[in-house]
Amino acid sequence: MGHTFIPLVDLRHGLIARAVPGDSPAPGGLLSDRLGRPLRDLRISVTDRCNFRCSYCMPKEVFDKSHAFLPHSALLSFEEITRTARVFVAHGVRKLRLTGGEPLLRKNLERLIEMLAALRTPDGQPLDITLTTNGSLLARKARALKDAGLQRVTVSLDALDDAIFRRMNDVDFPVADVLRGIEEAQAVGLAPIKVNMVVKRGTNDHEVLPMARHFRHSGIVLRFIEYMDVGATNGWRMDEVLPSAQLIETLQHTHALQAIDPQVEGETAERWRYVDGSGEIGLISSVTQAFCRDCNRARLSTEGKLFLCLFASAGHDLRTLLRGGASDEQIAAALAGIWSQRSDRYSELRGAAGGGSDAGARRVEMHYIGG
Ligand code: GTP
Ligand code: 5AD
Ligand code: SF4
Ligand code: SF4
Repeated sequence: MGHTFIPLVDLRHGLIARAVPGDSPAPGGLLSDRLGRPLRDLRISVTDRCNFRCSYCMPKEVFDKSHAFLPHSALLSFEEITRTARVFVAHGVRKLRLTGGEPLLRKNLERLIEMLAALRTPDGQPLDITLTTNGSLLARKARALKDAGLQRVTVSLDALDDAIFRRMNDVDFPVADVLRGIEEAQAVGLAPIKVNMVVKRGTNDHEVLPMARHFRHSGIVLRFIEYMDVGATNGWRMDEVLPSAQLIETLQHTHALQAIDPQVEGETAERWRYVDGSGEIGLISSVTQAFCRDCNRARLSTEGKLFLCLFASAGHDLRTLLRGGASDEQIAAALAGIWSQRSDRYSELRGAAGGGSDAGARRVEMHYIGG
């Protein structure tokens, strides 16, 4: 086996060059990082643009007219994304999630979904293909997405109250249009649908109960997400986090709930079911209960950088390999080299350090890397 050294440079977040030793893994060979974690989940960001300006992700003051989004030539093409995904799938990935920004803003996304839906695992199984969306274009696009081979969707929705929702998306977008998108996704069978609600204390914590009531009996899984210190622009403060333990205690005053054992290794959410069988909810507690131990997620940015953690400050430039004539074997070798060196566990370390954020640290932004 040869030893290739591939310099990887991140131009977007400063010049960080790394030499990555790459030993070609056997086709179908599973990868393991320095903490023994496999690679199972690839999240692919297809655009850094979004039509919302949620203050916890793309605050208006920062992402205004003067913000330079990526030019089209910088984005990975559908062929480049599919080729990369194929290599990842050959080495353990079972789930693909398309994210953004807002992925439905990427032109002809259905074509990419068709291409990804044709991929198979080494033992011939189809992949779990899903998408995270703010729901604004879902009513219009659900049917075409389903026809292209998308299995399910996760919709971000932070409030049912129209005024609060309009304030949180900060572009005055009405909640009714998102609810219509969710209904349409249900009607075409993009199931199981999940709804992700980021809870910010003092902003939408009083929407927790109305949201729970609304989605109970619907077959939709509502998940409450602790507001995270991701990126460096959202002015995160610990006192704006509503710890999941407190949230579930409040919910239990009015609803009988029971914890469900985790089914899939490395899941983000702790699952609970209504005792009367009327549905399920999830708690995503990356601030108060880090889940890095089993983290099997890799993230591919819009311009082809591979990030090993949501809180990483730099990514590994795969686009240079893709556009520089590298073979699939060389890309697989680079991936194996990168993954075998991975030791990221940001949330765990933040927890161990007492919960404070190193705010201002140079970290990748969520709209650029996806959730
Ligand atoms: P399912 O396959 O539907 O269970 O999706 P998922 O929970 O793996 O992914 P999703 O994108 O729905 O994740 C929900 C939220 O959890 C994201 O929006 C993030 O806020 C958070 N999250 C997801 N992955 C990670 C992660 O690796 N680390 C941390 N700290 N948070 C994450
Ligand atoms: N904290 C928690 N979740 C976040 N998301 C974006 N920013 C944050 C944050 N600061 C998640 C939301 C959103 C998805 C795209 O990413 O769930 O719906
Ligand atoms: Fe909001 Fe999602 Fe857009 Fe970020 S990417 S601004 S969280 S809708
Ligand atoms: Fe994975 Fe990083 Fe999130 Fe921990 S903080 S779960 S290592 S992405």
